Amino acid sequence: MAKSKSVFFCQQCGYESAKWMGQCPACREWNTFTEEPVLISAAGSKARAAGAAKASPKAISEISGDDVIRISTGIGELDRVLGGGFVPGSLILVGGDPGIGKSTLLLQVCRNLSSENKNVLYISGEESLTQIRLRAERIGEFTDSLKLLCETDLGVIEECITASKPSCVIIDSIQTMSSADISSSPGSVSQVRESTNILLRIAKTLGITIFIVGHVTKEGTVAGPRVLEHMVDTVLYFEGDRHASYRILRGVKNRFGSTNEIGVFEMSGSGLSEVENASAYMLDGRPEGASGSVVVCSMEGTRPILLEIQALITRTSFGMPRRQATGADYNRVNLLMAVLERRTGLKLADCDAYVNLTGGIRISEPALDLGMAMAIASGFKNRPVDPHTVVFGEVGLSGEVRSVTQVEARVKEAARLGFETCIIPSGNASKLKEIKDIKLIGVSSLEDCIQLIG
Ligand code: TYD
Ligand code: MG
Repeated sequence: MAKSKSVFFCQQCGYESAKWMGQCPACREWNTFTEEPVLISAAGSKARAAGAAKASPKAISEISGDDVIRISTGIGELDRVLGGGFVPGSLILVGGDPGIGKSTLLLQVCRNLSSENKNVLYISGEESLTQIRLRAERIGEFTDSLKLLCETDLGVIEECITASKPSCVIIDSIQTMSSADISSSPGSVSQVRESTNILLRIAKTLGITIFIVGHVTKEGTVAGPRVLEHMVDTVLYFEGDRHASYRILRGVKNRFGSTNEIGVFEMSGSGLSEVENASAYMLDGRPEGASGSVVVCSMEGTRPILLEIQALITRTSFGMPRRQATGADYNRVNLLMAVLERRTGLKLADCDAYVNLTGGIRISEPALDLGMAMAIASGFKNRPVDPHTVVFGEVGLSGEVRSVTQVEARVKEAARLGFETCIIPSGNASKLKEIKDIKLIGVSSLEDCIQLIG
């Protein structure tokens, strides 16, 4: 006998509670609890008992690791974020703001897989077949091994997948899917959770890779949020300014590879194209000889990327100085300004500061500290930093410059793009061998570094 009860979920963070609450104790949002029925099936515990009898643990040496095969999506940047292609039977969540290009990217994956005669099923709950067809025409040629389906009922979807056994399925989007077993509306926490559970079971039992599209709320989490992230194998997020043409795909969780790899794409008239030389792309249009502009180097997984930090420092016309950070961590900007004021004597307390990491990318790596401090100092003094210089290093609270990792890769990237000088932590400089075509300057304190501006 199925017994029904209901619980309350916070629609913001997925917190579960037996009673209604005005404020969510987890995310502190007000008025986010809604009642959702939960179905408890008596058959579940019996099935569990039967499963326990069959379960037989294996020694770790009995399990071979060689049988993990990876299938290329045909998009190099996506493969890189996935750790070299996707693993059959995995569940992959692609999140991002509406309109950022999730459906476009996955349709391109479908095109590549179908051109290798792999069967792919694209299930959309958002668009009509004609709309998908129109988009596909912009992207390129498709073969008939791609099948389209407009459906939102997971029971029907499950039957369809079981009958056709495609090698890859796209679910666009999880917020539109619903299971008939649960009476709450599509997009609610319990529906999203149940739908993902069903898809997880399909993926694992049939060995089919399922890509799930998830929309992101304005707070930056997938709606019906954390509940989804822990169930899937891989979580990818699309970032970037919707009005600019570049898009950054970031791996947040990956059970089959490393996270923190990023893929850079550009939205063009015929879908998303890959940007291989990300540094050149990020530095495009950089003003030369402007004060407050510094080139830094950040490691994104295994790849170094050069970026420009801009700082505009002006005397405040209000009582409270205004501080703003775009792309960089706001608290880090405040902290660096305090360190600069205390340790190098720059009078920043009554200045407005606007710090911007150009390219719409969001990075909080500590190696950006030194470049950020230098941009602020350069902006304050209104003296430019040599435009052929790359700066990186972590700054401590005493104004000391601390070593960072993977220095050689960073310096080589700077040399590759034609930079002439690298200002790096002295702790790193002493260990580093000479690198062709680039001069290294080791600094041990923020004060030394600021003096280089003049
Ligand atoms: P879409 O992939 O539908 O975004 P999502 O699924 O994440 O909501 O659409 C991305 C945007 O890109 C859309 O506003 C139209 C635009 N676009 C192009 O500029 N060029 C193209 O070739 C395509 C297919 C879309
Ligand atoms: Mg879409």
